[in-house]
Amino acid sequence: MIELAELTKRYGAKTAVDRLTFAVRPGVVTGFLGPNGAGKSTTMRMILGLDHPTSGRVTIDGRPYDRLTRPLTYIGGLLEAKSVHPGRTAYHHLLCLAQSNGVDPRRIDEVLDLVGLTGVARKRPKGFSLGMGQRLGIASALLGDPRILMFDEPVNGLDPEGIHWIRNLMKQLAAGGRTVFVSSHLMSEMALTAEHLVVIGQGRLLADTSMARFIEENSRTFVRVRTPEPERLRDALAAAGVRPEQRPDGCLEIEGVPASRVGELAAEHRVVLHELSRQQASLEEAFMRLTHGAVEYQAREG
Ligand SMILES: Nc1ncnc2c1ncn2[C@@H]1O[C@H](COP(=O)(O)OP(=O)(O)O)[C@@H](O)[C@H]1O
Ligand SMILES: [Mg+2]
Repeated sequence: MIELAELTKRYGAKTAVDRLTFAVRPGVVTGFLGPNGAGKSTTMRMILGLDHPTSGRVTIDGRPYDRLTRPLTYIGGLLEAKSVHPGRTAYHHLLCLAQSNGVDPRRIDEVLDLVGLTGVARKRPKGFSLGMGQRLGIASALLGDPRILMFDEPVNGLDPEGIHWIRNLMKQLAAGGRTVFVSSHLMSEMALTAEHLVVIGQGRLLADTSMARFIEENSRTFVRVRTPEPERLRDALAAAGVRPEQRPDGCLEIEGVPASRVGELAAEHRVVLHELSRQQASLEEAFMRLTHGAVEYQAREG
C-alpha cells in the first residue's frame, strides 16, 4: 500500500503538490488523473524518493522509500523521463539493476519474456522504438517482483497495440493482488483501465472514488427523441408531466424518464418517431468540468 499524508511540494513560489492525502490499495488498478501540470509526476517522484517533500509524508508499506531495503522488491516504477544508460544492452541494463537490488539474475530472462523483448536482449536501447523503450522500463519495474507498481503516463506516444498490451498487463498485475498506480491526463484512457480513481488539479485532491461511482455521479443520462411532429410529442409528454428540452439540431432531450416510457407515450398518441435513444454524457466532459480552472496552461482557442 502507498499512503500519502498532507504531502506537499513547493518549487519556490509554485506549489506543485498541495496537501495530498490518500491511499493506494492492492487488488485494483488505481488511476491517477489530472490535467498536464496538475502535479502527478512530482507526486510519483516523491513516492520513489527522487524528490523530497516540502512537508507531509509518503510511505510504502509503512516506510519511506529510502528506508526500504532492496526497494525494487517492494515497488517498481516507470517514470516519464527514462534513465537507461544508452551504452548498455537491454540485458546488461537489467543485470546492473538486479545486482544492486539483490535480485536473482535468472529473473532477467523472465521479465524480458514477459514484456516481449527476448529477441533484442543483446541490443542497445538507443536503437529502440518508443514502445520498446517503454517495455524495457516496465521490465525494470517488474524485475524485483514487487507487490506495488507505479507507471507515469505509460501509454503516451504508443501505438494502439502497445496501449492495449500495457492496459492488459496492468489489469493482470492488479488481479494477481498487486497494487497498481497509473497516471494519465486522459479520462478516456483511465475509464478503460482503472477501477479506482484519484483526481487532482493544481496539486490538490479533487476526487478519490471508485470508477463506477465517478461515472454515476458525473455523467448525465438522458433520452434523445427525433420526430417529424415535435409539437404533438411535446403535448403527449406534457400530459404525462414530462418536459422535454429542445436542442438546436431539432431533437428533444428528456431527463428522468426511461426510453421505454417515452416510446409508450408516443405510441399512445400515435406520434411518429425517427429516433429514440438513451444517451450518456461522456466522462471526458465530466472530467473537464471537475478540473475546470485547474488547468495551468489552457490551450488557446482559435
Ligand atoms: N523541478 C521543477 N522545478 C520547478 N517547477 C517544477 C519542477 N517540476 C515540476 N514543476 C512544476 O510543478 C507543477 C506540476 O508538474 P508535474 O508534476 O510535472 O505535473 P503533471 O505530471 O501532472 O503534468 C507544474 O507547474 C510544473 O511546472
Ligand atoms: Mg507528468
